[in-house]
Amino acid sequence: MNNQLSDKTIFITGSGGVLGSTYVRRMLDQGAAVIATDLPGHRAEALQAEHADNPNFHFYELDVSVEDEVTQIFKRVQGDGLNPNVVLNNAAITGEMLMGAGQPFPDFADIKTDEWERTMRTNLTAPFWIARQMDRDIVGKYPCTLVNVASMYALNGAHHKIYDGLPFKNFSAYSVSKAGVHGLTLWLAGYWADRGATVNTISPGAVFNGHDPVFQERIGELIMAGRMAQPDEIADAMLFLCSSQAGYMTGQMINVDGGFSGW
Ligand SMILES: NC(=O)c1ccc[n+]([C@@H]2O[C@H](COP(=O)([O-])OP(=O)(O)OC[C@H]3O[C@@H](n4cnc5c(N)ncnc54)[C@H](O)[C@@H]3O)[C@@H](O)[C@H]2O)c1
Repeated sequence: MNNQLSDKTIFITGSGGVLGSTYVRRMLDQGAAVIATDLPGHRAEALQAEHADNPNFHFYELDVSVEDEVTQIFKRVQGDGLNPNVVLNNAAITGEMLMGAGQPFPDFADIKTDEWERTMRTNLTAPFWIARQMDRDIVGKYPCTLVNVASMYALNGAHHKIYDGLPFKNFSAYSVSKAGVHGLTLWLAGYWADRGATVNTISPGAVFNGHDPVFQERIGELIMAGRMAQPDEIADAMLFLCSSQAGYMTGQMINVDGGFSGW
């Protein structure tokens, strides 16, 4: 353990997922107070069980796709004496999540408007709501930072062929929402600059989570490092963005993708 984050109170959405739960563990290990939020369910329960004995761990149920819940969340945590100075827009509807829920991946021509809007609401409108609430309740009161989570598929086209014959795909609303998230970063960076708030984007590459060997081999050929990432390799960069060492960075995107975007 070191104390690189001991001056941070970190608020994170979607904290029970593959990456979120890794971030939480690493942040606690570096001395941060963590305000973990997620939908109710097995992910949230597992996270709470893991950290039940840690006084720096705090959990709140939060569905980011419900505007009223987001509008109240910082007042709720502030009412409990917690003052987040780092906020992570990490929750998202992901391909792995849809596959886990047994949901189909329709062809582009068959995507329904409500399916498109559901992804956009969670992956893009909700980060806007979180940022707007940060503006109302936090920005200007004390120094703070926002980290938006995009993806290697935000600013790079998807390689559709690598999904042939596999049970999941990259889906269009995901890529579009993730590109939009970085647009939010760019817009806010200048808007908040004179109020002591920074905002950056992290774009994780493909994180290994028990993927089919065929997929691992296909995507590995598109990555300079030749393989998928481990969650801790993404967390290393995320922890830096949360720390005071990133204090002079704003309006930037960090790609942590083994070189996928670097060819
Ligand atoms: N894992 C990867 O390969 C990868 C790659 C690039 C980007 N990312 C991004 O990293 C972030 C974390 O991804 P992950 O791999 O941990 O995904 P995951 O599917 O394991 O976790 C996503 C989390 O978001 C939560 N969530 C979904 N809808 C929500 C809602 N309405 N309200 C609150 N929480 C909600 C889920 O409950 C879950 O805990 C996401 O933004 C994702 O797009 C992941």
